[in-house]
Amino acid sequence: MSDEEKYIRQDCPTVRGIPMVSAFSSNWERIDNFQSRPEDIVIATYPKSGTTWMSEIVDMILNDGDHEKCRQAAITNRVPMLEFAVPGKMPAGTEQLAKMPSPRKVKTHLPVRLLPKSFWENGCKVIYVARNAKDVAVSFYHFDLMNKLEPHPGTWEEYFEKYMAGRVSYGSWYDHVKSWWEKRQNYPILYLFYEDMKEDPKREIRKVIQFLGKNLTEEDLDRIVYHTSFDIMKENPTTNYRMIPQSLMDHSISAFMRKGIAGDWKNHFTVAQNERFNADYERKMAGTTLRFRTEV
Ligand code: A3P
Repeated sequence: MSDEEKYIRQDCPTVRGIPMVSAFSSNWERIDNFQSRPEDIVIATYPKSGTTWMSEIVDMILNDGDHEKCRQAAITNRVPMLEFAVPGKMPAGTEQLAKMPSPRKVKTHLPVRLLPKSFWENGCKVIYVARNAKDVAVSFYHFDLMNKLEPHPGTWEEYFEKYMAGRVSYGSWYDHVKSWWEKRQNYPILYLFYEDMKEDPKREIRKVIQFLGKNLTEEDLDRIVYHTSFDIMKENPTTNYRMIPQSLMDHSISAFMRKGIAGDWKNHFTVAQNERFNADYERKMAGTTLRFRTEV
């Protein structure tokens, strides 16, 4: 069996109780002991919440809206994923980051309690993007169909149950979005919503520019809005994930840049599923001030 095959369609082992992509889970000391730099910018999300979109936005902002410069490398190299690893096949995220000049952009899906403590100690800037639970479920299901590093999702009905129970990689959506929301109380996090970005990308990108302390012209901003739109990113080979080997991601099953809308859950949830999901959601989200929109 090749190194790569060892990680194909494997169940998720747990890391301190959090289900983790099998290929990422070994040698976890590399994550715990990761050394941040004060200038690091962390883009944290639950999977399928707009990570790639925010990664491209941040990279374009740091390059003053120069899209030619951004197009020189795949997004996975410009914004490495901290916990990524396919041992023996591809460089780990921690190795990529060690070689990068500052300011590094660090992508992660880790929940608050698994983020290396060095980021908190250095006061690194953190941008968190949250997306409503229903659209994440649908997007994650399609992603798991095409991404062979994930366990096979089974039927939509089966996946729906696993997702609600948090038996998917990175665990419970509910715990993830709530714990990052709470962390804002004692740490400066820019907490943004996918639905707000869909509604008014220019307004939300302005918030990111301000948070990063950058000064850009109105023309720079317009260029960033244009080049980070779904239609452009879908055709951009550095952001549409088609540079990833087909043995790991099969876009013929479902494209990584799939639909890019808010409200697609209505095409997948049955009436009965929606009722069950809503009742369960009320229980799990009781007591938080965090509010989501499921359409815009
Ligand atoms: P869908 O599967 O609903 O289409 P992540 O980058 O966190 O994995 O999230 C992927 C999701 O974000 C996918 O959602 C993808 O289409 C969507 N997405 C990526 N770039 C986008 C953009 N520029 N605008 C809107 N949605 C985008």
